[in-house]
Amino acid sequence: MASGQLSRAEALACAGCRHACHVMLYSDTKTQLFGKIPIKHIILMQMRFDGLLGFPGGLVNPAEETLEGGLGRELLEELGVAIPVSIEDHVDSCYAPESSRLITHFYVKKMEEEQIREVERAAASTATDHGQEVLGMVRVPLYVTKGGGGLSSFLSHSFIGNARSQLVDAVLRFNLVDPEELHKVLVCSLKTHA
Ligand code: GTP
Ligand code: MN
Ligand code: MN
Ligand code: MN
Ligand code: MN
Ligand code: MN
Repeated sequence: MASGQLSRAEALACAGCRHACHVMLYSDTKTQLFGKIPIKHIILMQMRFDGLLGFPGGLVNPAEETLEGGLGRELLEELGVAIPVSIEDHVDSCYAPESSRLITHFYVKKMEEEQIREVERAAASTATDHGQEVLGMVRVPLYVTKGGGGLSSFLSHSFIGNARSQLVDAVLRFNLVDPEELHKVLVCSLKTHA
């Protein structure tokens, strides 16, 4: 395990730690941008109330709910739809960069494209947090356009906690972007940042 990483069991054994669970929902898609650039996958993130990009989810109280149960509650609040997330969807747990007393648990769940569209519709209409804690859902552009836009521009925005590395790691782990192309994108987004 990488530094800062801990197992789900170790994380739950931490006395006095707060816990947050977030999930990356994604699907395959055959859609093409401008009828020629394959989009390949839809990944959902959100624009948060604080102007930062992050994943749906939130604080969970393990004394009252399971990690996955609490995540389900947060998803209902933020997305307006019940999405069962299970222990098998858990990817990693680590200490939040901003506080050693906060442990962030990350999940990844693959869905059908139509289910993703349903989440987007509910998040913009029935979700109780819409327009308040959540300003809107956004899709992550995974391609690179001719002018060098796309994923590298997206990655140069500001993210909450370690959401940016959660995104990059998950894209690699689930093979959603060619690793060589991702490497180029990362170099490019660092240049944009500087
Ligand atoms: P409240 O209902 O206002 O308490 O918010 P919430 O329960 O939805 O909590 P939130 O989603 O803001 O997550 C709680 C904490 O986890 C944040 O303050 C961040 O430190 C961290 N966090 C939020 N989103 C992400 C994310 O996408 N990835 C990671 N790693 N951490 C996040
Ligand atoms: Mn147009
Ligand atoms: Mn919330
Ligand atoms: Mn939240
Ligand atoms: Mn909450
Ligand atoms: Mn809330």
